[in-house]
Amino acid sequence: MGELNKRVATLHQLLHQYNYEYHVQDHPSVPDAEYDQLLAELIHIEEKHPELRTADSPTVRVGGQAQSTFNKVQHDTPMLSLGNAFNEEDLRRFDQRVREAVGAVTYMCELKIDGLAVSLKYVNGRFVQGLTRGDGTIGEDITENLKTIYAIPLTLKSPISFEVRGEAFMPRSSFLHLNEMKKKNEEQPFANPRNAAAGSLRQLDSKLAAARKLDIFLYSINDFTELEATSQSEALDELDALGFKTNQERREVTSIDGVLDYIAYWTEHREKLPYDIDGIVIKVNDIDHQDEMGFTQKSPRWAIAYKFPAEEVVSTLQNIELSIGRTGVVTPTAVLEPVRVAGTTVSRASLHNEDLIHDKDIRIGDSVVVKKAGDIIPEVVRVVIERRPKGTKTYHMPTHCPSCNHELVRIEGEVALRCINPKCQAQLVEGLIHFVSRQAMNIDGLGTKIIEQLYEHELIRDVADIFYLTQEDLLPLERMGEKKVQNLLSAIEASKQRSLEHLLFGLGIRHLGVKASQVLAEKYETMERLLAVTEEELVTIHDVGEKLAQSFVTYMANKDIRALLDKLTAQGVNMTFTGQKLSQVEGHPDFQGKTIVLTGKLQQMTRSEASQWLKQQGAKVTNSVTRSTDLVIVGVDAGSKLVKAETLGTPIWNEQDFIDKQSEMSEV
Ligand code: IVH
Repeated sequence: MGELNKRVATLHQLLHQYNYEYHVQDHPSVPDAEYDQLLAELIHIEEKHPELRTADSPTVRVGGQAQSTFNKVQHDTPMLSLGNAFNEEDLRRFDQRVREAVGAVTYMCELKIDGLAVSLKYVNGRFVQGLTRGDGTIGEDITENLKTIYAIPLTLKSPISFEVRGEAFMPRSSFLHLNEMKKKNEEQPFANPRNAAAGSLRQLDSKLAAARKLDIFLYSINDFTELEATSQSEALDELDALGFKTNQERREVTSIDGVLDYIAYWTEHREKLPYDIDGIVIKVNDIDHQDEMGFTQKSPRWAIAYKFPAEEVVSTLQNIELSIGRTGVVTPTAVLEPVRVAGTTVSRASLHNEDLIHDKDIRIGDSVVVKKAGDIIPEVVRVVIERRPKGTKTYHMPTHCPSCNHELVRIEGEVALRCINPKCQAQLVEGLIHFVSRQAMNIDGLGTKIIEQLYEHELIRDVADIFYLTQEDLLPLERMGEKKVQNLLSAIEASKQRSLEHLLFGLGIRHLGVKASQVLAEKYETMERLLAVTEEELVTIHDVGEKLAQSFVTYMANKDIRALLDKLTAQGVNMTFTGQKLSQVEGHPDFQGKTIVLTGKLQQMTRSEASQWLKQQGAKVTNSVTRSTDLVIVGVDAGSKLVKAETLGTPIWNEQDFIDKQSEMSEV
């Protein structure tokens, strides 16, 4: 056994050494075959003598047992993010703040690697735990997956205990290879290397993560007591000496002009890098200066992230389509020749309103520059005038509703055009879709297509008609079998028992959202009492503003609405509050007390569903992004809120991050 132990120790030492030379120094000293042979020998020994397999054996690089979940672990110190700069002005302002605080400084410029922040914990020189950033306070333990990244040393060249942070990422070559494989297997390819890296680190089976070939650059240390370094540049050199991989493109500069030169260089050369970067990080170099400046709630005052402008591509505007919302607002959408922008194919972009179309003089047939705001939401930036074909015409919104032909109006103080015909088919259909949506009456199986058909067959004209539908009405519709009809009728029947707040919300009263519906239903308990409530009384309620109070009372006073409510009552639709009081809802610690903003269109759920779910977890869902916002969840149509969040350095999740979180929570 003694001999075997010795051999294992030698193999560890050699394999770690060869790994380091290959993956960190990019300078192998032995041919790959020799490495493979030694690794095979070690695997063989460990198979026969599992007791010799240690947590830092080089064999862990190939992955181990699959896990059922990732443990949540609180970070020793929160993982913060950085404030953003988008232009020279922002950077000069940063420089001014720095110099006002600590006088003349040198800056460390680093590439902003487009991957995922992770933290690595070492005890006595051994890698013991690796965490994701998570919400900054609590991350997930992805140690096993991180061990598969060859550039992460499992043992350090000196036995120190500390935590180091960096960015795990997928090199472009791994990404291209992975997507080739995905395409071959007829699987959905990843949109970009960042998503692919995120997906890999979330694999419960570390063998799958191992197959993905991730890499890492370390860039920060929390606690300098264990190190000699007195500056960021020395700290990075020390990390190098300990066996970590740091990015070698870093530069120390002595002024903001030096920063600007560095940015200019990488703006031009970033495409040549073997990995994606999305900006440049600028840090005050001296640790004492950093300490003097300190932190805001979310980010260090001594560093800033310059973000590259979003990628812009040219496409052709094929058409402008109009859609009519539930409240009659007519929204123009650009139909574009499909183009790849920042990792996905874009074929539509909201044009918001007529003013925007005129300001940019956008015409059908034009070549247009398209980008994704915040790299997520497609946007038409401008027209390429030099390429304008002959015969294009200034675009005018129609004077009449494309659905019902009623004259459109522009309400004072609003840019939007609106169809004010209460009988407009498009609006009514949108209203019906809203009424059956999950947050409202939650009638499963009554989708847009069916509602449109029912409307066209004149089977429903208002929301109450839904409760009068019969088997005979439904069976003749397209793609409607007996089973489906039965299910639908049961869903309609069941919805009659929904608590008052859902009905209120479903009615689509202007300015009445999910929250206020809950508050009103909880307070007044019956529809009867709500019908009698006055504007004066309503405005005294915390979540009710003047606009809502007015629209609510006007709505309830309308005799057509009274008739509609009678019609609903006649069918046994519940008009009382039977739900759970907000104060009784138990939350989840990750969301409890957090202020969250949802923005943009979500694909896999409605915004209100997301919002209700978050509220159930104890979060406060608000409308605007401010410094007190803890998290912004973005869908595909987000705009200024996303930009604001980025500027403030607010944590941002996309829909997938959110869904992953939900499913992870339902697993435990
Ligand atoms: S320093 C307090 N340096 O960019 C945060 N971050 O919001 C210190 N990133 O979350 C971060 N490359 O994921 C730093 N060279 C670099 C970086 C870098 C990429 C990421 C990191 C961070 C985000 C900034």
